[in-house]
Amino acid sequence: MRLKDKIAIVTGSGQGIGRGIAERFAQEGATVVLADINEQTLHNTEQALTAQGGNVLAVRVDLSQSDQVAQLYATIMAKFGTVDVLVNNAAWAIPTAHFLDMTEDFWDKVMQINLKSVFLCSHHAVKIMADQKKHGSVVHISSFGALRAHREMSAYDAAKGAIEALTRAMAVDLAPWQIRVNAVGPGLTATPPVTDYLPTPQQQKRLLDTIPLERLAQPADIAAAVLFLASDEASYITGQILYVDGGVVAQLRPAVMERHHKRPE
Ligand SMILES: NC(=O)c1ccc[n+]([C@@H]2O[C@H](COP(=O)([O-])OP(=O)(O)OC[C@H]3O[C@@H](n4cnc5c(N)ncnc54)[C@H](O)[C@@H]3O)[C@@H](O)[C@H]2O)c1
Repeated sequence: MRLKDKIAIVTGSGQGIGRGIAERFAQEGATVVLADINEQTLHNTEQALTAQGGNVLAVRVDLSQSDQVAQLYATIMAKFGTVDVLVNNAAWAIPTAHFLDMTEDFWDKVMQINLKSVFLCSHHAVKIMADQKKHGSVVHISSFGALRAHREMSAYDAAKGAIEALTRAMAVDLAPWQIRVNAVGPGLTATPPVTDYLPTPQQQKRLLDTIPLERLAQPADIAAAVLFLASDEASYITGQILYVDGGVVAQLRPAVMERHHKRPE
């Protein structure tokens, strides 16, 4: 068990990638704090993980609000007295607006949910780790959108780019305390916002053609990378971004042309 006896917070764990990470962490022996704004999905995850024998604490919280984040950490400290791992996963997953149409309110909302929450959660966690002089690990969930622009998602991509810069900056500042900070950049992953956005097989097929490994990621694919970075196996890795994207950012341009070689049988 790679996270035995660790206290791990996974934000946005009511559904999607966060739920996949929480599930994997619980299987690896962690006590997992599930933190999400959605009461219903939070409850569903809590029930499912508990039924699998996991140790979880579910807390409903709007992570973009500093008083609520402070209350979350007060609850965690009262119950467990420490934090070993933080995964900053919660986000508004597909906030679309063409740059020409984007309002200041929209920009602020995306930054509040997708970037400020990461600062707020991280700040509390690393202060606890530093005060207690214990090694700790923070993993941010970025996106391949930090490197390659999504159409009409400039605020989202800007927030993810900032998260990647923050990953390196936090890693450098916190290294003297042996607190490691890394990020995982998922590619297109089969979660509710994506499957709702691409409801038909034709729409999905068009996108699959742009992914070298020719499939969407599953939350478990992302969870495996997060687990590695959170665990002691990655004890000499900090300040890194690991893309789990089926090869998308590696290729020069999407394979919109027909392939010249037959695929292997
Ligand atoms: N699905 C993808 O294709 C994909 C690709 C790249 C990156 N990502 C990133 O992965 C992460 C998870 O995405 P997902 O696809 O699982 O999305 P999702 O919408 O399924 O899950 C996001 C979770 O965050 C929660 N959340 C949102 N705002 C919150 C707030 N203010 N306070 C607390 N909780 C809040 C939601 O309730 C939800 O449970 C996000 O950071 C997203 O940007 C996803």
